[in-house]
Amino acid sequence: MKIIRSPKQMQGISKEIKDKGKTIGFVPTMGALHQGHLSLIRRARQDTDVVVVSIFVNPTQFGPQEDFQRYPRPFRKDISLCRSLGVDYIFHPLASWMYPEGFKTYVLVEDLSEVLCGRFRPGHFRGVTTVVAKLFNIVRPDIAYFGQKDAQQAIIIKRMVCDLNFPLKIKVMPIIREEDGLALSSRNIYLSPQERNDACVLSEALRLAQGLVKSGIKDTKKIICHMRALIKKKKSAKIDYIAIVDPKTLKPVKKISGRCLLALAVWIGKTRLIDNLCLKG
Ligand code: PAJ
Repeated sequence: MKIIRSPKQMQGISKEIKDKGKTIGFVPTMGALHQGHLSLIRRARQDTDVVVVSIFVNPTQFGPQEDFQRYPRPFRKDISLCRSLGVDYIFHPLASWMYPEGFKTYVLVEDLSEVLCGRFRPGHFRGVTTVVAKLFNIVRPDIAYFGQKDAQQAIIIKRMVCDLNFPLKIKVMPIIREEDGLALSSRNIYLSPQERNDACVLSEALRLAQGLVKSGIKDTKKIICHMRALIKKKKSAKIDYIAIVDPKTLKPVKKISGRCLLALAVWIGKTRLIDNLCLKG
């Protein structure tokens, strides 16, 4: 396994791999790897000849009041996890190489970036699409892997790939959860033991909604109302949003029919957590 720090060098290596007719599987991450990330890497290992994982805490997707500085960076542990899974290359650039002086170009997927998490994190998805577009141009993958955990991100990336004719396929993999339902996240380490308990309320609320739909309730307002009531019982919880939307347009739906995306963002103390579920009417 090689660790590559320079975008130019990574681009050269990717070209050599492609010239040999080999396929590249790519897993973009911000590090602090957990079983969620590892599930993407394992899938890439199965599907493609050469696996590239990027580890880059991307400054442009964090707001000024957000956790960029304190975001966990356990790089040594990440390296050994990648090695144990048979990763071929870790791409780990410096921020000043990704965004050198004079950098002026951003990628924005309109509308989809402004709703749900975008409403509460202005500029966040512009930062994500910009860095992912750059990473795609540097790594030149055949398949790139994303988690359903960040459902809106995956939808926006798919839109960008289609709109900008990136010659690659996006695969979205299921959410990996703790036994008690909490979706794995690099941010879970911020939670105190009490908050860690309270954090289960996100997945509990999703399961509650699923149960309501199964029992025949289709009115999304009603479903969201029940979820709110459940979450509000936890003192440490503050809801950013709960939404049931069309999975392509991210527009709210009134009645569950076909496939809908139920997504929520909830603060547990000072930690913002997200989770989601696909509802079938
Ligand atoms: P990061 O939060 O490190 O996540 C990297 C990938 O792992 C994302 O595609 C995310 O959806 C997936 N992932 C995270 N938790 C997961 C879980 N519990 N189950 C399954 N997959 C999970 O998302 C980012 O980084 C960044 O925005 C990035 C795309 C790298 C751009 O900077």
